[in-house]
Amino acid sequence: MGRERRRLLVANWKMHFVRAQALEYLKVFTERVQGISNTEIVLAPPFTLLETVRREIQGTAIKLAAQDLFYERKGAFTGEISAIMLKDLGCAYVIVGHSERRRLFGETDELISKKLRAALDAEITPILCVGETLEERRAGRTQRVLETQIRGALAGLALSENLVIAYEPVWAIGTGVNAEPEEAEASALFIRELVAQLFDTEIAQKIRILYGGSVKPANFEGFVRQPNIDGALVGGASLDPEAFAQMVKIAECC
Ligand code: PGA
Repeated sequence: MGRERRRLLVANWKMHFVRAQALEYLKVFTERVQGISNTEIVLAPPFTLLETVRREIQGTAIKLAAQDLFYERKGAFTGEISAIMLKDLGCAYVIVGHSERRRLFGETDELISKKLRAALDAEITPILCVGETLEERRAGRTQRVLETQIRGALAGLALSENLVIAYEPVWAIGTGVNAEPEEAEASALFIRELVAQLFDTEIAQKIRILYGGSVKPANFEGFVRQPNIDGALVGGASLDPEAFAQMVKIAECC
């Protein structure tokens, strides 16, 4: 029997690349991942590259994600981008509540909840990011933090399996210091059990939970072999098409 949940790898390019670089990347990457069929591959470029990437991945199994959205449908919100606009560009996924947005742009659980609802309404699958800071971890508050973030974000939402949750300990993001796979698995299990409690067991079994934070080809297998970790949200290492393709291949065969 195959895995119940399809593995998922998301490349979060953050604020990197202009068009020529994206095209160069895609030339290498699309060739390297030809024939991949069990693993779902998602690229999350900056807004300015969504159309470029969309055109290049047409006809492949690679899917498109945005890195953020605004919750209103339209109106006088200078600089913002709605779920409808993302849908129009072919986005299947959108990252919501990344720790960089929480920390640098003051995003709260309440705001994140509105963004989740907007994504779901537009039939875009949100990738909700949660995770504790180093200080919270040292104080033994990891689970309490995860619970607050998840309860806050999912409050009042009608969920199907149309949700991905990325467990991203803040201290592991962009630092080169990854969580231990067993530690990440404990958090993933905690998240799954919490979703079961808030919604139901079936939904909890179906949603995919990713690990994120300094994932690279050398450490990825340890994560993807954990029973409750279904893939990864990759930042830095996803900027190298060879490295990202290598991780896709690990997900495909392990
Ligand atoms: P990183 O970033 O892989 O560079 O640690 C992960 C993320 O921010 O999603």
